[in-house]
Amino acid sequence: ALVSMRQLLDHAAEFGYGLPAFNVNNLEQMRAIMEAADKVNAPVIVQASAGARKYAGAPFLRHMILAAVEEFPHIPVVMHQDHGTSPDVCQRSIQLGFSSVMMDGSLKSDGKTPADYDYNVDVTRTVVNFAHACGVSVEGEIGCLGSLETGMAGEEDGVGAEGVLDHSQLLTDPEEAAQFVKDTGVDALAIAIGTSHGAYKFSKKPTDDVLRIDRIKEIHARIPNTHLVMHGSSSVPQEWLQIINEFGGDLGETYGVPVEEIVEGIKHGVRKVNIDTDLRLASTGAIRRFLAQHPAEFDPRKYLKVSTDAMRDICIARYEAFGSAGQA
Ligand code: G3H
Ligand code: 13P
Ligand code: NA
Ligand code: ZN
Repeated sequence: ALVSMRQLLDHAAEFGYGLPAFNVNNLEQMRAIMEAADKVNAPVIVQASAGARKYAGAPFLRHMILAAVEEFPHIPVVMHQDHGTSPDVCQRSIQLGFSSVMMDGSLKSDGKTPADYDYNVDVTRTVVNFAHACGVSVEGEIGCLGSLETGMAGEEDGVGAEGVLDHSQLLTDPEEAAQFVKDTGVDALAIAIGTSHGAYKFSKKPTDDVLRIDRIKEIHARIPNTHLVMHGSSSVPQEWLQIINEFGGDLGETYGVPVEEIVEGIKHGVRKVNIDTDLRLASTGAIRRFLAQHPAEFDPRKYLKVSTDAMRDICIARYEAFGSAGQA
């Protein structure tokens, strides 16, 4: 059944687990997520970015998610819009049938320029007002995602601030977070603690000065009843980087957010964990390896099957590590 995000996150808070929220752009990702959830009996959050809508088209995304609900009726599914850049974008998603939206007012509507507090409150509160009137949940964001190693936001062409930011922007302030929740009434709050979108998060295995799990604890202590969201939370599996590079790829040395650090966050109020890059890496690695080992194969179903299986295994591992397995 299609459910609101609030329902799932309240349950996760009550029972002390976290939910991975996987980005979805195509059939193979959707199947991978649902097959994993079905296998371990986990509730599902699937999210579509602006890039996903551009790639697949909003009607295809919507019907793919509805198809998932139809094929797996026993699994609760949240259809979430990731990183909405304006109230208009969120409103259109609600009209399309999304049961949850993110209004990312940490950035202006260009999705690049850091916004001030008053702008963020204004756009987020606007979305909360109309979303709650239709039973749709809202995620807000306070602080800007970006690397505490370099001050850079992350991917060049993806979602995120442009240029170099200072530490006061890259780390969510607990007092400001508390005020923001009070001023907006959001159901879930994305926070900045040193993670960034994409594969290039850390130049070495992150230490506690660049991945600030301690800041999650401070925020949770200040607003214990708010569901916290970690963005940029792919773990960037070294084994998939190796496979990609072994079979013709060219990715640089890079590290993600270790699963055990996310699990520590879940002990301190993190309920939603956004993951996109890990599925991209697994998919690409599986396809590169398959095509290199089967040069005469040209049926896309063959290589897309190994892609789906590789993504499914990442999903299963995250459902199990975050404690959402068995909770559907
Ligand atoms: O927010 C970032 C997600 O990884 C979505 O990425 O904008 O390339 O679809 P995208
Ligand atoms: P990753 O790039 O770490 O997978 O993060 C995805 C994300 O935060 C989507 O909103
Ligand atoms: Na989101
Ligand atoms: Zn994100």
